Amino acid sequence: MTRLANKISLVIGGVGGIGGAVSQRFASEGAQVYATSRKGAESQPDLTGMGSIHAIQADASNNADLQRVFEQIRLEQGRIDVLVVNAGLSEYAPLDEISEDHFDRTFGLNVRSLVFAVQGVIDIMQPGGTIVLIGSIASDIGTRGYGVYGATKAAVRSFTRTWANELAPKGIRVNVVSPGPTDTAMMARTSQEVRDALSSMIPLGRMGRPDEVAAAALFLASDESSFTTGAEIAVDGGMAQV
Ligand SMILES: NC(=O)c1ccc[n+]([C@@H]2O[C@H](COP(=O)([O-])OP(=O)(O)OC[C@H]3O[C@@H](n4cnc5c(N)ncnc54)[C@H](OP(=O)(O)O)[C@@H]3O)[C@@H](O)[C@H]2O)c1
Repeated sequence: MTRLANKISLVIGGVGGIGGAVSQRFASEGAQVYATSRKGAESQPDLTGMGSIHAIQADASNNADLQRVFEQIRLEQGRIDVLVVNAGLSEYAPLDEISEDHFDRTFGLNVRSLVFAVQGVIDIMQPGGTIVLIGSIASDIGTRGYGVYGATKAAVRSFTRTWANELAPKGIRVNVVSPGPTDTAMMARTSQEVRDALSSMIPLGRMGRPDEVAAAALFLASDESSFTTGAEIAVDGGMAQV
């Protein structure tokens, strides 16, 4: 399959979990993929074994790291065709336990770094470029204990609408994929009790797989979605839809 043939893609948080699945799927569709993470290739040596995935160590929360990544791709490729912003964190904190540190770290990665990633890519993205943000259905359903996380993802949904409008004249599309509970390391950090409770709330009766989220990201990144911008695709087994 070559739906992303010769496309230069940057997946921020693209080495493990959902981002790793996105990087693999994009590479299998013909893209050259730059995948960032704090640990770089070290966490997933199999990933970089695929010749078209280049793992880069970079902390998305650190703007200097982000600028270094853009500069490397500018020098090596001269452009970015597809940006996926996937790095995000989710921690349990009901209202009475929200600390300033929890708030700043969650907004710092899930919102602040996302804003500067999108801002930074604009001058190396040409007409036809696509931006795919990874949100969450947590922005819609008010999960107890995840208020700050849900608010960050609501911000991502909102930015998607604004940037779709602002970047349309440049020929750049912006969309968001909002997963429901998905079987990754992030989910593994919750208790079995939480995971069972979540699964029981999903009409399709199970958690999603990272490759199922990657399939939606591929659609939005490719020309198959050429008339879609500002939109959200939920990949949640129906959890927030019915
Ligand atoms: N899993 C779910 O149920 C679920 C549901 C809805 C939405 N989401 C969203 O989907 C996205 C990915 O979640 P996931 O479950 O795949 O998470 P994950 O298993 O924790 O993987 C996150 C990936 O991002 C990288 N990363 C984390 N912090 C980073 C940073 N500061 N800079 C650069 N890379 C960073 C991690 O690598 P390093 O550790 O090496 O940095 C890892 O490769 C997040 O935005 C999350 O909010 C997940």
